[in-house]
Amino acid sequence: MTMAIAGRAQGALPNQPLDVAAIRKDFPIFETGIAYLDSANTSQRPKQVTGAMLEYFEKFNSNIHRAAYRIAEEATVRYEATREKVRAFINAASTKEIVYTRGTTESINLVAYAWGRKNIAQGDLIVLTILDHHSNIVPWQILAAERGAHIEYVDIDEKGELRQDQFADLLQRGPKLVAFNLVSNAMGTINPARDMVAAAKKAGATVLVDGAQSTPHQPVDVRALGCDFYAFSGHKMLGPTGAGILYGRRELLEAMDPFMAGGDMIKTVRIEGTTYHDLPWKFEAGTQAIAEVIGLGAAVDYLSALGMDAVRAHELEITEYAYEALSDVEGLTLYGPPPSRRAGVVSFALEGIHPHDLATIADRDQVCLRAGHHCAMPLMTRLGVAATARASFYVYTQKEEVDRLVGSIKEAQRIFA
Ligand SMILES: Cc1ncc(COP(=O)(O)O)c(C=O)c1O
Repeated sequence: MTMAIAGRAQGALPNQPLDVAAIRKDFPIFETGIAYLDSANTSQRPKQVTGAMLEYFEKFNSNIHRAAYRIAEEATVRYEATREKVRAFINAASTKEIVYTRGTTESINLVAYAWGRKNIAQGDLIVLTILDHHSNIVPWQILAAERGAHIEYVDIDEKGELRQDQFADLLQRGPKLVAFNLVSNAMGTINPARDMVAAAKKAGATVLVDGAQSTPHQPVDVRALGCDFYAFSGHKMLGPTGAGILYGRRELLEAMDPFMAGGDMIKTVRIEGTTYHDLPWKFEAGTQAIAEVIGLGAAVDYLSALGMDAVRAHELEITEYAYEALSDVEGLTLYGPPPSRRAGVVSFALEGIHPHDLATIADRDQVCLRAGHHCAMPLMTRLGVAATARASFYVYTQKEEVDRLVGSIKEAQRIFA
């Protein structure tokens, strides 16, 4: 199977402006005529990704790490190759720091369980933010309840940006853990993560960054970021569902006990006891999502060929366009900061029209729009709304799709007038 370079001619350099028309040809789903504006939820997958998975199923389907025959060796090599691709993509120091999980949720739960239960004690403070996704809130709530720790949330200002004054005050109280998302899925706010991590580290905290919405959309360098843990999902970055990553600094991962136990995460098992495998396999118990991990590797190749600076530049252009187009709509409230300080996410409400009704009307026009609380109920409560409508963009998004969204909004306003 040939693996064409993502949406551009072989040999072209990354970080040229995106050729969206060529990119769209890699995504058969667009032949259906949909305007897909829900990539923050899950992205579409190009042929290069589904092709890599199909190749595994059709040519070397077998289990990894345990068979001596040729196709099993091939499967193991392809599966492990993703680790180096991911390492390079986020600039981690070693593949030992790249743990495969099912996604951001599992990565954060792994840390809450394997690091949290060892390190969080009675009376400890955990600092989160009101912008966090439920998967970066609930695992810590469970941990805090179990250990007798407590949680404080950094609030936002009127622009939807984290209140750094309040964050600084909370750091004065010496939190054990600080965890926050680099980009908010609900509003698109890009948090000043480098400064926040530096300040939290200076205050002595361990820091987890939820990279679910940043890794697919902008260059990420975990060493420059300076965090201890970094979590993300493959399915939001052109990869399949069921494969995600936990990056952890090696000394922390070494000191942690396993999250799940069973086959493949051991060195020796005797009836007297067990010794664990080396990093990163200590955290990868049982048969893994082999095809999905291979697919994630193809997704990383695809994005690397485009260049993450070019990805960000394209999304910024679309976001600016959408922000302006939506600002012109009467009775529409936009949430969050201006386009330059947000990712490709636009969250809004329409006077007198419930977001679910808008999404239903948009669907009649084949416009895929998200409506709901976006797994950020504390943020919705803070904004004083039950739900918002959200359009989110990616490498394949065209301005024409934003125009179609505006058309659906006008149609909804006509129906509900
Ligand atoms: C900021 C953020 N964190 C975490 C998650 C959870 O990701 P997953 O459902 O892939 O585990 C999401 C998904 O929408 C997200 O946007």
